[in-house]
Amino acid sequence: MKKQRLVIVGAGSTYTLGMIMSLVKEKENFPLKSLIFYDIDAERQERVAKATEVILKEKYPELEEFKYTTDKEEAFKDVDFAFIQIRTGGLKMREKDEKISLKNGVVGQETCGPGGMAYGMRSIPDMIELIKDIRKHSPNAWILNYTNPAAIVAEALRRVFPNDKKILNICDMPAAIMVSYAKILGKEIWDLVPEYFGLNHFGWFTKIYDKEGNDLTDELKDHILNKGFLPEDAEIANDQSWIKTFKQVEVMLRDFPEYLPNTYMQYYLYPQKMVEKEDPNYTRANQVMDGREKRVKELCKTLIENQTTEGAHLEPDIHGRYMIRVAASLAYNNGDIFIVIVENNGIISNLPDDAMVEVPAMITNHGPKPFAVGKIPTFYKGLIEGQLAYEKLVVDAFFENDYDKALKALTLNRTVVNAPVARKILDELIEANKEYWPELN
Ligand code: G6P
Ligand code: MN
Repeated sequence: MKKQRLVIVGAGSTYTLGMIMSLVKEKENFPLKSLIFYDIDAERQERVAKATEVILKEKYPELEEFKYTTDKEEAFKDVDFAFIQIRTGGLKMREKDEKISLKNGVVGQETCGPGGMAYGMRSIPDMIELIKDIRKHSPNAWILNYTNPAAIVAEALRRVFPNDKKILNICDMPAAIMVSYAKILGKEIWDLVPEYFGLNHFGWFTKIYDKEGNDLTDELKDHILNKGFLPEDAEIANDQSWIKTFKQVEVMLRDFPEYLPNTYMQYYLYPQKMVEKEDPNYTRANQVMDGREKRVKELCKTLIENQTTEGAHLEPDIHGRYMIRVAASLAYNNGDIFIVIVENNGIISNLPDDAMVEVPAMITNHGPKPFAVGKIPTFYKGLIEGQLAYEKLVVDAFFENDYDKALKALTLNRTVVNAPVARKILDELIEANKEYWPELN
């Protein structure tokens, strides 16, 4: 098995230690020769890197090289894989997105509604630059992107790099949901085979099978309707906000029993309830800054001081393991099936070819080979078309510097709907994002 050279872009992230533990856990499926960290924030990255050194020394002694840098050439030279996990503007800007929306009575969320538009227009320029830089130094590397908002980022990258077939956008949410399915069904996630369609953070599981082909969908639905639904992955299982979100799946399934919804559908189907349960002065960004961010910072400090992982709470998570298993299937032509984001081109036959859709695909060393979904029913088609138009208009607005298109995008979004509200939020977001957004005229 050829050992891989991997660069993690945005390595200062709170998700990196989970990724490292996942790389350790998956080392037989995806063995590394060399691991490189890249970030623009040297201090934040150094703390995570020094903690990572402690983990690697104990748990990955065979790794030939580990280094961290803020120099692009050093980071991107001759890698086999790049994992991109950046957050332009950081959690501080996420906080603004959420608060501006909520104060106007609209869902305030990282990737849904106005928050998604704001974050999307911040992410696009950095993502384009990064892909160009990676390509300069590693023309053949696989680029796995899970930078959010993945739907909007994927659409922008599709337009700018139409011929680059080695960029793959992925989200861990379907996998995190499948971890809960697996728990209910008494299986491991890797034993389940999903049928799924939608856009990123906007989709439905239509079937869940096991590897023998047994249809477990009804058993799963019955369980959720009778016993509820909870997050099970280590990273989110004890998080109150995620517990509430998973519980809402039961409500959605009762209202629309046909398919099993992605958790993110709650923002589009129950926007009013989602606004009411939030505190506009203390949003999810605040929770993450006071929770995960502090926890990871402390964890790094402890690891660095003690120079051992003993006693430290460190676990692999589905986020990391999923990305790594996709990477392994790309590297070694495993042909495993994962839900990924790809250009539609007929997969969902009654949606436009140029939509970036989220569907199961067989992952080979020539990239994802998605399975045909066929025609989807009117309700889902209608919902998706509205959301897709919003996503396309956000990306149009970005590339064309077009205020009207941004206004249309927000008005179309199910979390907003009212044009005057859309205008007010847009104007506030423009003001808040002056440093990041192109000028909209
Ligand atoms: C899931 C989604 C990610 C998202 C994350 C946010 O994993 O798939 O796209 O970034 O949740 O979680 P947070 O805990 O930061 O609200
Ligand atoms: Mn996601």
